[in-house]
Order: sequence, then structure tokens, then C-alpha cells
Amino acid sequence: MRDLTAPSIEQIFPARFVPYSSHPIITRLQEHTGNTRSRILTHAAYRYLDFTIKLELLVVNDVTRSIALDRAGFSLPPELVLDAYKVYCDEGYHALFSMEGIKQIHAVNLERPVVGSTVNHRYLDSLRQITANHGELARLFFTIVSETLITGYLTTAKSSDATIMALLADHAVDEGRHHSFYSSFLEIITPQITRANKRQIGSLFPDLASAFLFPDLPVITEELIHCGLTVDQAREVLADTYPVDRLMPQIISAGRTPLRKFGELGYCSLEESVERMETNLTQHVSRWTA
Ligand SMILES: [Fe+2]
Ligand SMILES: [Fe+2]
Repeated sequence: MRDLTAPSIEQIFPARFVPYSSHPIITRLQEHTGNTRSRILTHAAYRYLDFTIKLELLVVNDVTRSIALDRAGFSLPPELVLDAYKVYCDEGYHALFSMEGIKQIHAVNLERPVVGSTVNHRYLDSLRQITANHGELARLFFTIVSETLITGYLTTAKSSDATIMALLADHAVDEGRHHSFYSSFLEIITPQITRANKRQIGSLFPDLASAFLFPDLPVITEELIHCGLTVDQAREVLADTYPVDRLMPQIISAGRTPLRKFGELGYCSLEESVERMETNLTQHVSRWTA
């Protein structure tokens, strides 16, 4: 297990990972209280680790288990089914080291997490909604989208870093393998999916990718208020930090590779998917910053 017990949260979860933490409103509060910024970084670290736990245990391993048990509803080669056991163990371990991280940070900072078993990350809310409306096949593709997008933000990590980056680097090595596993899985199941189902799933990709890539503004708002900002201050900080025109190119470039792949396999049109993501992002940001 990585040691996340450094005396300063900045050594664990640097401010550069949390773009809103250097906003002038937070700098002013920091001058006044002396601890606003470190509290905000602590909650951002908790949120990242809590999200990892829930993604791995509630989403990815749910689907991976059904592949390992050969109950996913597709004809699969035995070697892929065996690989699903390895993915399952990896994801269980990622959840474990994330929970260890939360406990270690809590022990040093004594800041109680806002996130926890009762907090809904926006991503998981989207999963519930999409599965309720479109069934188990949508859940399976939710995992494929997550597992083919996840490596993007992990690959910049270096294991020599003395921060949470070391933990991300450990994770990135495993997620590189999962990317290959879920890409092969996608190639194998595609010919087994009816044209109507492919169209239905394809129409969901912009929502699936958006749910994964957009900043979780509802939860961040909750954290900022918890750390002493008013509702209006929290909205101003987020409006300044996440202007749609700056956020859009980053998100679209992260989503483009998997969306192109889904387009090549006949699920969707890349251009239409990108347009829909742009509309989603505009609505999402304006709802939380207006
Ligand atoms: Fe993982
Ligand atoms: Fe994974």
C-alpha cells in the first residue's frame, strides 16, 4: 500500500489537480482562516478516492463478474473469460487502496469526508437513470465506456512521485490492461448485437461519455459550501473555473478516441456524438453556475 500520511495535504493531493482551489475568493478566505485551501484539497482527494471505490465495486466489477461467470449473454472465448477474473481482482484491489487512502488522509487531517456511502456521484446517478431506461445492455456499455476512457487521466502519473500520483501510476498500469480487455470484449460482442440494439446503445454514448468526463459540479458545490463558501461564492468559483469554451476542447479530445472506435464499429456517428456532448456540457455547466 502507498503511504498517504504526509503532514500537508498539498504533498498528497497538489493544488494543480484542483483548479478552483487557487480562485481569488478561496485565496481571500484562506488568508482569513488559514486552512480553507487545505480543507478544499482534502475533500477533492476524498472525492477522487470515493469515486474510484464506487466505480470499481458498483459498476466495473458488477459487469466484469458477469463476464467471468459467462453470464454476460454473449458467446466469448475461454481465454477472455479467464482474463475477466484478473480484471476483477485488480479492480477489487483499486477499491481497497482507495479506501486505505481515505483512512490515512483522514487520520492526519481530521477533516471528515463529505463524500461517503450516502453521497451520489453524478456519474453513478447517470448510470442508475440510463440503466432504468435502457436495461442491462446499457450498463454493460457504461462499463466499456468507463474502461476505455479511464486510462487517459491516469497515464500522466509517475510512480516515483511522492504524492497521490504514485497511486494513480500504480492504477494506470492495470487500467492499460483493462483497456485492452474491454476493447477485445467490444470487438467480440459487436457482431452478436442486433442492428436495432446497436443504434439504441449508440444514441447513449454521448451521455455515457459526458457522465464520465464532466466535472462533478453538484458534489464540488457541496464541498465548497462545507468549507465555508456561500452558495453564490461557490457558483462564482465554478463559473470562473469551468467556462464551457475552455472545458469543451479538453473533454471532446478525451472522448474522441473511444467515440471514433464506436463509430467505426457502426454504433454511432462521431460528429453527432460530439455535438450532443457539447449540448450536454453547456446545459450541465449553466445549471450549476447560473
Ligand atoms: Fe481500476
Ligand atoms: Fe479497470
